[in-house]
Amino acid sequence: MADTRPAAVINGPNDNTMLKVCILGATGYTGLELVRLLSDHPQVEIKALTSEKQAGKNFPEVFPGFQGICDLKLQPLQSTKLAKEANFIFSCLPHKESMAIVPAFLEKGCRVVDLSADFRLHSSKTYGEWYEPHKAPELLKEAVYGLPEVHREAIKKTSLVGNPGCYPTASLLALLPLIQGRLVSPDGIVCDAKSGISGAGRSPALESLFCEVNDSVTAYKLTTHRHTPEIEQELSKAVGREVKITFTPHLIPMDRGLLVTAYAHALRKVETKDLIQLFKNHYKKEPFVVIYPEGTIPSTKSVRGTNFCHIGLAFNERTNQIIVVSAIDNLVKGASGQAVQNMNLMCGFPEKTGLEKSPLQP
Ligand SMILES: NC(=O)c1ccc[n+]([C@@H]2O[C@H](COP(=O)([O-])OP(=O)(O)OC[C@H]3O[C@@H](n4cnc5c(N)ncnc54)[C@H](OP(=O)(O)O)[C@@H]3O)[C@@H](O)[C@H]2O)c1
Repeated sequence: MADTRPAAVINGPNDNTMLKVCILGATGYTGLELVRLLSDHPQVEIKALTSEKQAGKNFPEVFPGFQGICDLKLQPLQSTKLAKEANFIFSCLPHKESMAIVPAFLEKGCRVVDLSADFRLHSSKTYGEWYEPHKAPELLKEAVYGLPEVHREAIKKTSLVGNPGCYPTASLLALLPLIQGRLVSPDGIVCDAKSGISGAGRSPALESLFCEVNDSVTAYKLTTHRHTPEIEQELSKAVGREVKITFTPHLIPMDRGLLVTAYAHALRKVETKDLIQLFKNHYKKEPFVVIYPEGTIPSTKSVRGTNFCHIGLAFNERTNQIIVVSAIDNLVKGASGQAVQNMNLMCGFPEKTGLEKSPLQP
């Protein structure tokens, strides 16, 4: 799977050609966000967009705001045809669907960033426990978990990235410096997480209806949310032993945005200012992680429409707990923005290309 040639030799821009991109599932929220981000990416040409239900329509017929920005016709998903039109694939399909389709594109020489959960877990046994038996288990060992802040060098060399989930992105960026710095106990970690409704996707569902979500906050999937094993996989790797966490997601009545408040038991007394310095050192070379000064706490509005993760910290002396608050846009750093960041790394483009967006303010 790993191609040892320098990425820029494989996919340009050395030969002056644009990277030819196809988005599978372009009518969903993450596919739509990819069209928004890639439309002004200077090294990318969007060549194909797929939809089963809207096939045959022009993209702006479904999304009028894209008139003059992306006028492609939506087409059904046929890998042989699409692999001739594009050599880089973003799969924005639901989990369980993606694993049946991605192998055909890899066999035809395409590189793939898969936004579903199908290539995030390394263990087919774990995937089977939380989802169903994996249809391409041999690829799980090859796929790289696409969190650039942890796996940048491996991402540069792979043909298949399992793009992290939105909750895991915010949770891991909040917890990894503490775990790797041996500052907290790996036992008893709690991630209390909140997401806007777009996190549930665009397919109609009772629990996403306006009257169900508006003016209300709901916890869901207590102890059973499928992002749990993904967070545990990466924390376990970082600390060198099995880690189990308590992860509780909530739905918040807003379009986009995701906030995780993580609690971990400190192994020694620390000062908040030292915690902040630890995080600043840990992320000093990271283009998309911002650490807040003492006494300030991030909110989702500050990262809306951006690829940034904003982090605030405090030490609670009374309970000996470290509290980390981590805010992202679920559709950008939590999905499509991170996918573009991974594409940039895989193709040898500057990592921030197409992602230097300021926050969408009211
Ligand atoms: N939403 C988020 O915040 C978020 C964040 C991180 C990761 N993810 C993951 O990213 C993936 C996409 O999420 P989303 O929110 O964009 O989902 P979504 O809004 O439900 O969109 C799904 C897309 O996949 C297409 N599709 C569905 N079933 C298909 C099939 N059997 N064959 C071919 N195409 C099919 C749909 O096309 P038509 O209906 O038009 O045919 C649609 O374009 C999911 O795996 C999700 O878990 C989502």
